[in-house]
Amino acid sequence: MAGKSRSLSTDPSPFPNIEHVAESLADKGFVVIDNFLGEEQIQALHEAIAFHREEDNFRKAGIGNAHLFQVDKEVRGDYIKWISRGEARPATLFFMDRMEELMQSLSRSLFLSLKDYECHFAIYPPGTYYEKHLDQFKSTSNRKISFAFYLNREWQAGDGGELRLHLDEILDIEPLSGRLALFRSDTVEHEVLVTAKDRYSITGWMRDQPTNIPFY
Ligand code: OGA
Ligand code: NI
Repeated sequence: MAGKSRSLSTDPSPFPNIEHVAESLADKGFVVIDNFLGEEQIQALHEAIAFHREEDNFRKAGIGNAHLFQVDKEVRGDYIKWISRGEARPATLFFMDRMEELMQSLSRSLFLSLKDYECHFAIYPPGTYYEKHLDQFKSTSNRKISFAFYLNREWQAGDGGELRLHLDEILDIEPLSGRLALFRSDTVEHEVLVTAKDRYSITGWMRDQPTNIPFY
């Protein structure tokens, strides 16, 4: 499977330095990797999103168990489309292969026994956000590492939509095209700040158990 989808690509971006990525995750709980994929692949991912939009495949995202604590208020405003290999287009498969490779390497370096990951496209329309939360709660304790891969070209200061990590200090990460942010699912509280423009990403979770049927 891996070899098949890779053959059509000419992606020039280098594979991330695993030592650095693992060290940063272990020491700081997060890491930011720029140029995880090149422009051509990102363009193709936008086409995949456009396709799913036309097919009306995006759904308003739910919040799993979190609604037990958040009843009346909108917690997140994004629309999502879960990704499965079976229906994934070549660009999506290319991304998945790279992510798989990254997961395997991290699993070895961090002794995490990561087995699988789940991911979805996400679109945050203007004015939407995702309130501060943790990605791991009881029913999702198999989530070990969260990731967000951003697809926003020409993002500018003032466009909002930053990923805010609540570490010892607050850290805001702009959702810039080609940027991959990874952080620990169990300890790093985070939020998506209000966006002024449509904000596109692939968000996912590396797990230490195989993926079940995902929920909305
Ligand atoms: C999430 C999330 C962050 C982002 O979907 O759980 O926190 O930057 N996403 O999109
Ligand atoms: Ni999250």
